[in-house]
Amino acid sequence: MAQYRVRASVYDFELALFEPIRREAISRLALRRGDTVLDVGCGTGLSFAQLQQGIGPTGKIVGIEQCPEMLQQAQRRVGQQAWSNVTLLCAPVEVAEIPVMADAALFHFTHDILRCPEAIANVVAHLKPAAHVVAAGLQWAGPRTWPANWFVLPAALYSTTSLEGLDRPWDKLAGLVGSLDVQPRCMGAIYIANGSAANGYTGFRRRSTTTSDAAQGGGVFGWKSQNRSTAHCQHLGVRATQT
Ligand SMILES: C[S@@+](CC[C@H](N)C(=O)[O-])C[C@H]1O[C@@H](n2cnc3c(N)ncnc32)[C@H](O)[C@@H]1O
Repeated sequence: MAQYRVRASVYDFELALFEPIRREAISRLALRRGDTVLDVGCGTGLSFAQLQQGIGPTGKIVGIEQCPEMLQQAQRRVGQQAWSNVTLLCAPVEVAEIPVMADAALFHFTHDILRCPEAIANVVAHLKPAAHVVAAGLQWAGPRTWPANWFVLPAALYSTTSLEGLDRPWDKLAGLVGSLDVQPRCMGAIYIANGSAANGYTGFRRRSTTTSDAAQGGGVFGWKSQNRSTAHCQHLGVRATQT
């Protein structure tokens, strides 16, 4: 988390290059008005505006992010746009108490999360049957475009905690949701994978919070039940409801 605590204030500029990837990834979610979407590892909320275009004011976004500094930027964005349909959870995805069953989930540049089976399982356990799932991010380019790895290596070292799985970053997700359509972009340095939770997933289910305002409106919810980052999340103001 340390690198994102430092990067939070400049993160949006750093990611500007990848906006076309973000747009394509979100368009592959095929969102409909009224949908509920999980933005997994939402960072500063850079995806929120386009997600809002898909779901409209009757839909809901649940952003899950463990780094309080990143989430604070997301919270600021939500406030500036006066979005009342965004719930922000300050927690590691693997233990987040997700208060909804969602129609879609986005994993945009979230390699560490995609390498964590418990995190993926927690998300998939909160997806409705046939929910759309899209993941996009860095991957090792193949032999024919290997020079692209001169970009992938420093970018991955800068933004992930491990290079493990960079050859097939989506494979653990595919193991839980079924087959994914994986498309290379940027000389194979980036992938976009999409699929659907065909029959829902029941193998792992955490207790969801029953906090009604979390499910119905917006807000920021700290991670109270675990030790690892409680102190980090507290300054966000647990349950500082956004209206
Ligand atoms: C490269 S950023 C991507 C942010 C956002 N999805 C975007 O596209 O702009 C990765 C984010 O995942 C978050 N993250 C990493 N591991 C996490 C975990 N286990 N639980 C929650 N957030 C996590 C990081 O704090 C960081 O904000």
